[in-house]
Order: sequence, then structure tokens, then C-alpha cells
Amino acid sequence: MEKTILITGGAGFIGSHVVRWFVQHYPQYHILNLDLLTYAGNLENLADIEHEPNYHFIKGDITDEHFIAQLFAQYPIDAVIHLAAESHVDRSIMDPLAFVRTNVLGTAVLLNACRQHWKTDPDKHLFYQVSTDEVYGSLGPTGYFSEQSKYDPRSPYAASKAGADHLVRAYFHTYQLPVVISNCSNNYGPYQFPEKLIPLVIRNIQQHKPVPVYGKGENVRDWLWVEDHVRAIDLIFHRGKRGETYTIGGHNEWKNIDLVKLICRCMDEKLGRPPGSSEQLITFVKDRAGHDLRYAIDASRIRQELGWQPSISFEEGIRRTIDWYLSHQEWLEHVTSGSYQQYYTQQYIVREQTQSS
Ligand code: NAD
Ligand code: DAU
Repeated sequence: MEKTILITGGAGFIGSHVVRWFVQHYPQYHILNLDLLTYAGNLENLADIEHEPNYHFIKGDITDEHFIAQLFAQYPIDAVIHLAAESHVDRSIMDPLAFVRTNVLGTAVLLNACRQHWKTDPDKHLFYQVSTDEVYGSLGPTGYFSEQSKYDPRSPYAASKAGADHLVRAYFHTYQLPVVISNCSNNYGPYQFPEKLIPLVIRNIQQHKPVPVYGKGENVRDWLWVEDHVRAIDLIFHRGKRGETYTIGGHNEWKNIDLVKLICRCMDEKLGRPPGSSEQLITFVKDRAGHDLRYAIDASRIRQELGWQPSISFEEGIRRTIDWYLSHQEWLEHVTSGSYQQYYTQQYIVREQTQSS
């Protein structure tokens, strides 16, 4: 069936994988990629598909009500897959209001446009909210987040995503807007902006720079290969139940320090450096404020109902990720110039000085 799908944030890390997947797997869908191209958005991520006939890029701001109204008037949008967001926890600690604006207001503006345009035929439409496990807060050493977990966000980023999720559910209950939400754990893979742990560690090792580990490195994350998240989004988009939530995770928990050491070992091999040399770059820095201890997902619902499961092992995914970053130096140079340098100085150089004083 032909459809016009608006994907927001399609020039970012996960969004670019979602756009590529839908453009390549569903030639009958018209994919509109709406992205503001903030520091995190990069059209080079989509250079391989930019000329496909079922793909169209639109630069614009999801918080701009007038612009979004025009967009919905101009295109026959059947469904929205909403990924556009401010996504980095450390930046949310520096500038929380930017997160409230984009993540809460931006989601509300999109929901409102859908409500106004989708007055009939609910089966034809869907607003898909791509969200995070961070809305559930922090786990102790045991237990898992699932669809039944209570919201307990603890960073400005997590709170802004939680606020957006609440609005999505409110539109379902109040206006019967057809919606679905998924809450996923930490993604990794190609095209991730190198402010996030894995690409940052790879880049710093390559450049012989300190590898910053917050606190003691005891925090635990559940890592998922980005294309496995995309396959889950595809299944939920096509077969997920309206008004419901799906939690997605890799069943792949790593303490930060163990993960960093794994990357160090792989990098020594790949770069032909003496074993142990990258580990010497590890530098413990001041902890993240309010740092959540552990995230872990129980993904049994999506596995049982939709037949989803991760497709590759973590060791394989990490090797592929490192190979990708080492062979995409130009991409790295382009995304790490300018404003990223300023952020890096504020986040790390100042932190290292605070730690050692
Ligand atoms: P990202 O920061 O790489 O990309 C975000 C994209 O949104 C960028 O292309 C940016 O230009 C765009 N954007 C920002 N503000 C905008 C605005 N006002 N209007 C239009 N576009 C705007 O983020 P990501 O890591 O790819 O995450 C994508 C989504 O998935 C987010 O909603 C995030 O909360 C969620 N998520 C991420 C992870 C993860 O591990 N990265 C895990 C679970 C859920
Ligand atoms: O859980 C899903 C979330 O995962 C997404 O919703 C977020 O958008 C995404 O950014 C990610 O959040 P995290 O805060 O978990 O990811 P990050 O890569 O920033 O950090 C991973 C862990 O590594 C975390 O415990 C903090 C730590 N860390 C991070 C950086 C950048 C370090 O020790 N050193 C660092 O330099």
C-alpha cells in the first residue's frame, strides 16, 4: 500500500538508519525526512540514498507550529515516525531548556498537527514515538525495565522524553489519536555522533587522547546494535498495537569500564599497537551529575508478540563499529569541527582540571 511517512530527526544517528531502511525496503512508501540539521544532524549520513525517488529531505524545526502546519497542508502525511530530539544527557545538564523546547514542545506541535489532519480513518494513520529506557530511571544491581515499569526520569533529557511520552499517551486517550511508543536501550553503530561513549572512546584512542570514564566506570548500560533497533521499529510500525508500549533492549549489559577496556583491546589489534597501550589512556574523570547506575531491558513482549530479537553479538557489533569509524575519517572530521570542539573543552578539559584539583 502506498503511504507518505514523515520521519523526524532522520539526519541524526538512529534516524538516518531508519530512513535508509524504509527507503530501501519499502519503495511504495514516500519518505519525508524532516530535520533541523542541528550539530547532531548530518546529511552525509544519507549520501547513499539521497537520490532515491521515494526519498525527500526537508529542513525545518519541529517546534515551529506554523511551519509544521504548512508541511501537513502540503503533503498527504499518513504516519509519523518521530525521532527528532536533543539526545545527549550531558548537554541536557548544561542546557535543560533546549531539551524541554525540542523534546516536549516539538512533540506537542507534531501531535497537534496530526490531530488536526487525521480526523477520519484512524486505521490508516500512526504517530510512532521513538523513546528511551531512561524515562524509567535507574536500576539497582538486579531487575529489568519493562512495559509495566513506572516512569521515574532523573536527568533533564530523560524528563523531557518522559514528558513527550506522556503527551503521546494523552493524545491517544483524549483524542483517540493512533499512537505507539517504544522505549529502547543504548544504541551503537555507524554514524553515532562522537559525543556518545563508544565513538568518543574510539576517536580518542585513535588520536592518543585521554579516554574519559565518569566516576569509577561502574555504571551499566544495555547496548543494542542500531540496525536491530531499526528492525524493531519496522515491526512495531507495521504490527504494533495502537496505544501500547514496547520496550527494546539488547540483553547485553556492560559496565562502562569493562566496555571501554574491550574497545581498548580491539583498537590495539586493529591499529597494530602493543597490547595494553590503549588502556593506558583511560582517565577517570568527575562523575556525571545524577548519573543513573544501571539500565537493563526485559524485551520479552516484542520477542513473543512480534518475533524480534537482536541479530548480532556485541563483540561482532563492536568490531564492525570500530572498522566503520576507522574507515570514515572524513565523516569524523566534518562532524567534530566547530561547535563540537567548544562542547568538548567545556565537558572534559574543565572536568579533568576539577578532578585533579
Ligand atoms: P541524534 O542526536 O543523533 O539525532 C537527533 C536528530 O534530531 C538530529 O538529526 C537533529 O538535527 C534533529 N533535531 C534536533 N532538534 C530538532 C528540531 N527542533 N527539529 C527537527 N529536527 C531536530 O539522536 P539519536 O541518538 O539518533 O536518537 C534519536 C531518537 O531516539 C531520540 O528521540 C532519542 O531520544 C531516541 N533514542 C536514542 C537512543 C540512543 O541510544 N541513541 C536510545 C533510545 C532512544
Ligand atoms: O539508554 C538510552 C540512552 O542512551 C538514549 O536515550 C540517549 O539518547 C543516549 O545518549 C544514551 O544515553 P547514555 O547517557 O547512557 O549514553 P552515553 O553514551 O552518553 O553514556 C554511556 C555511559 O558512559 C554512561 O554511563 C555515561 C558514561 N560516559 C559517557 C561519556 C560520553 C563516560 O564514562 N564517559 C564519557 O565520556
